[in-house]
Parts: sequence; structure tokens; C-alpha cells
Amino acid sequence: MEIIALPHEMQRWAEAARQRGETIAFVPTMGFLHEGHLTLMREGRKRATLLASSLFVNPTQFGPNEDFSRYPRDFERDCALMREVPVDVLFAPEPDVIYPKGFQTWVEVTEMTKGLCGAHRPGHFRGVTTVVAKLFNIVKPHIALFGEKDYQQLRTIERMVQDLNFPIEIVPVATVREPDGLAMSSRNAYLTPDQRQQALALHGSLRAAEAAFKSGVRDPQQLVSVASAWLQKTPEVQLEYIETADAKTLEQVTHIDRPVVLAIAARVGSTRLIDNLVLVP
Ligand code: PAJ
Repeated sequence: MEIIALPHEMQRWAEAARQRGETIAFVPTMGFLHEGHLTLMREGRKRATLLASSLFVNPTQFGPNEDFSRYPRDFERDCALMREVPVDVLFAPEPDVIYPKGFQTWVEVTEMTKGLCGAHRPGHFRGVTTVVAKLFNIVKPHIALFGEKDYQQLRTIERMVQDLNFPIEIVPVATVREPDGLAMSSRNAYLTPDQRQQALALHGSLRAAEAAFKSGVRDPQQLVSVASAWLQKTPEVQLEYIETADAKTLEQVTHIDRPVVLAIAARVGSTRLIDNLVLVP
């Protein structure tokens, strides 16, 4: 695996590959890899002749009181896991190369970032879309893979690609879970054994609402009530939001007559976790 730290070197690598007729699949990450990341990479491996990944803990998508400085990092372990996939090229830049002195250009998807996580993490999606747009310009992939675990991020990036005419196909990949249902996340590393058990309430509450949906409930508010009631059985878990939204546009829905996403964010101790489920009538 080649490791590249500078944008112009990465661009040169991508241009040379394209001239040879190769196709490039790309999986951007913030590292501390788990089976979710690796599933995206294996899927990318199948869909192109070359696989690129990036490892960059992006400071601009963390709020001032969020976990940027303590975000888990293990570069050597991440490289070893990527070599196993195998990843062909890893772009791993330093923050001052991505955001040099004088940086002042931002990419913002205005509407679909207003609700859900966007309402609770001001500036978060602006940081995500800005860094992903830069990574797309640097890595020059034909396709890029994103997890449904970060549902609003996935839809927002699809919107950005369409609005800004990036010649890149976005491939969604289903959420990878632990055997007991917990969605895999780098942030699960923060959880104590007790908190790890309590965190199961997120997926449990989504499944409770899904059961109600399957038995015929089509009122979003009623599904949210079912999910909230389930979550309240684990008082250590502090709810941030449970909401439904149109699965494509993320607009509010009053009756479920098309696919909707049921999304949850909650804190277990100081760890913020998210999960979601798509309900298809
Ligand atoms: P990160 O949290 O490292 O996630 C990288 C990619 O892995 C994202 O597309 C995310 O949705 C996917 N992913 C994470 N957990 C997953 C799971 N359990 N199942 C399936 N996919 C999963 O998301 C980011 O980094 C950043 O915001 C980034 C896009 C790299 C921009 O900085």
C-alpha cells in the first residue's frame, strides 16, 4: 500500500492511474477502523480496478465542545487492516495541508442539513461536505462508498455531488452491526462494559418502532412514541432526538406512504451515538 501525505502527489497518482485506464474506488475515513469501514473497502475493491482510502480526522466537522482532540487514533493498526483488504493507496494528510493559512472556501448543502444531526451539531455538515469535496478533487475517484450508518451524511453527499456536478458515483453500503445489533462505530471504543450494554437501547428502540410499523402503524409520531418508550427503559441513555424523515430528501413526513428513515441520536455517558433504520411501506 502506497501512503501519500501531499495533495499534489495524490493527484499525480490518480491522474497516472486514469491514463492507464484504471478505475478508482474511494473510501474516506477518520480512521480507528472497524468492520464497517472494512466492508466499504471490500465493496469498493469489487467495483473498481484500484482502491483508494483516506485517513484524516477532520477538525472542521467537530464542534468546539466535541471530541476532536480525544477522537481515537491508531495509524499503524489502521494501515495493517487496510493492507489486508488490500487498499492500493492511502491518502493521509496533516491538518495544515488540508486547511493551510488563509483557507476560506466552504461547501454547504443548505436544506437537508437543517434537521436531524444538523440541528444538534451546528457547522458539522459544512465541515463534512467541505472536506469530502476537497478529497474528491485530490483523489479523483470514479466511485466513492459511504455507510448508511451516517444516513444524513450519505444523503447530503449525494446532494452535493449532484449539485456540484462531481463525475463520481456514490455507492451506499448498509450499516454493519455487532452480533447483538449495536451499530459499529469508532466511538464505541469510548464505552465502558456497562455503557456498551446500555447502548443496545438505541437499536432496540428502532426495532420496537419497526415492529409497530410492520403491524400497520403509518403515523410517524406514533412510531417515535414507541421508540421513545423503549429507550426510557434504559435511563442511562440520554435521548438527543428520535425523528422520521423522507428517506431521499430528509424532509418531514406526516404520513408514511413512501420510504422514511427513522433516525436516533443519544448519549451514553459523554459518548454520542447515532443509528437509523429505513422503513419501506
Ligand atoms: P468515519 O466515521 O470514519 O466513517 C467513514 C465511513 O464509514 C463513512 O462512510 C461511514 O458512514 C462508514 N461507516 C461507519 N460505521 C459504519 C457501519 N457500522 N456500517 C457501515 N458503514 C459505516 O464518516 C466519516 O468518517 C467522516 O465524516 C468522513 C466522511 C470521512 C469525512 O470526514
